[in-house]
Amino acid sequence: MHILAIHGSPSMKRGKTYLVLEKLLKGAEKAGAITEVVFLQKETIGECTGCLTCWIKTPGKCFQKDDMAELIEKLKRTDLMILATPVYVDGMTGQCKNFIDRLIPLLDPHYEIRDGHFRHVVKEKYCSKIFLISVCAFHEMDNFDPLILHIKRAAKNLNMEHMGEILRPAVYSLGMKKVGSDAIGKVMEAFERAGKELVENGVVSEKTRQEATNEIVPKEAYLRTINRYFDAQIGRR
Ligand SMILES: Cc1cc2nc3c(=O)[nH]c(=O)nc-3n(C[C@H](O)[C@H](O)[C@H](O)COP(=O)(O)O)c2cc1C
Repeated sequence: MHILAIHGSPSMKRGKTYLVLEKLLKGAEKAGAITEVVFLQKETIGECTGCLTCWIKTPGKCFQKDDMAELIEKLKRTDLMILATPVYVDGMTGQCKNFIDRLIPLLDPHYEIRDGHFRHVVKEKYCSKIFLISVCAFHEMDNFDPLILHIKRAAKNLNMEHMGEILRPAVYSLGMKKVGSDAIGKVMEAFERAGKELVENGVVSEKTRQEATNEIVPKEAYLRTINRYFDAQIGRR
């Protein structure tokens, strides 16, 4: 199985998105997958201009000469795409949305009605599965709701199968060293197990997904620690 991880956090390897993605990919590799990470921040990807050249004048090809053509080719050779994004203002990062918009050359422009819903006619075979990994700073799980819904709908629009998601709220708690590292270790183990399960079973179990979200620092203490951190940073200006 070939897994292509599309990493959309501008923090790249310094960020928490990569911290959990790396673990998941480690688990996937141990289960026999070949994995590759694309850092969107490093790629040159212009915004979709909506000109529809890729549907009409040069079907399947965008007029923009940038890194997207190669990424689309990579996607055609991939079994599973993992979208790795932090929550940015209740959704994916701009880098990820830009990438997803630029996938439309893969679609046939014509519409059809499938399951009572307008869809694009399936044109050619490309990576048929998508899985989401995400982190956010706030404590509540509902911070992921708009993102999950967006990915589910985008998967349908792009004729891809949504394989689920693994999420980490209160993600800064992974860096709060004073907290029993056992709790942090267990969360990180869950991400590694998720990669293994994804390769072996095609899904991540409810138990593993739950363990990835386990509370490390109680809500009020987490809030106080973060606010103290920002006070200190601002005081240092
Ligand atoms: C522009 C911006 C918007 C954000 N919006 C949210 C948000 O709506 N909800 C939330 O819980 N966290 C939000 N965060 C926090 C990020 O999800 C968090 O910092 C995450 O760790 C960033 O990913 P990274 O560590 O890979 O850079 C936001 C961060 C930034 C920079």
